[in-house]
Amino acid sequence: MLRLGVNIDHVATLRNARGGIHPDPLDAARMAIDARADGITIHLREDRRHIRDADVAAIRAAITAPINLEMAATDEMLAIALKTRPNACCLVPEKRTEVTTEGGLDVAGQHNTLRPIVAALKRAGIRVSLFVDPDPVQLRAAAGLWADIVELHTGAYAHGKPGELERLQEGATMAKALGLEVHAGHGLTYNNVTPVAAIPELVELNIGHFLIGQAVFEGLHAAVARMLALMDAARA
Ligand code: PXP
Repeated sequence: MLRLGVNIDHVATLRNARGGIHPDPLDAARMAIDARADGITIHLREDRRHIRDADVAAIRAAITAPINLEMAATDEMLAIALKTRPNACCLVPEKRTEVTTEGGLDVAGQHNTLRPIVAALKRAGIRVSLFVDPDPVQLRAAAGLWADIVELHTGAYAHGKPGELERLQEGATMAKALGLEVHAGHGLTYNNVTPVAAIPELVELNIGHFLIGQAVFEGLHAAVARMLALMDAARA
């Protein structure tokens, strides 16, 4: 089956808008798991604009389901990951001025920066995922770094760019042939998830912004359950 990782960053965005403690990302994590999500994804950004260090620690302590920590490939984040020991770390490019993760990691161009970070995470028993565009050069570079996983960036597909679904399918086929586990995410909604979920090589989707937004209208539990039902139907 195709797994769903629920990204709860934007529960923290909402909390931080008022500077208090509500809504608590940990409650969202608990509810997503209760709705049968397979894991929780959190992105600790350098500027701490949503998830904060205390959230990472609290979620790690309370949630037994797999936690996927998204982070930039920096020494600061590596130290936090080694202390926190999530199930997986997804290395993402991070620009201070971006609203969200705009593109995939340039694994080929940053090979020397990434290599020691990937190696340190793997030595600690943390699975390493690299967030990349479905580009053969990047996929080969990810395999060359002995990453466990590539997460294919679905943002261009979600924005309706022609040919992107085919690129995702070809990228997934190639990544699997290279021995990588294949995940995907970014910009997925009820309306666009089905063709991506039907790509047979994919084993996990990570979805955040849409689910948290949809939770305003139907509740997080219902939104997660409906997304899981669409994913299951795409695989049936
Ligand atoms: N995967 C990665 C690596 C991401 O950076 C994000 C966005 O934080 C997502 C998945 C989820 O994207 P969205 O919030 O658009 O569903």
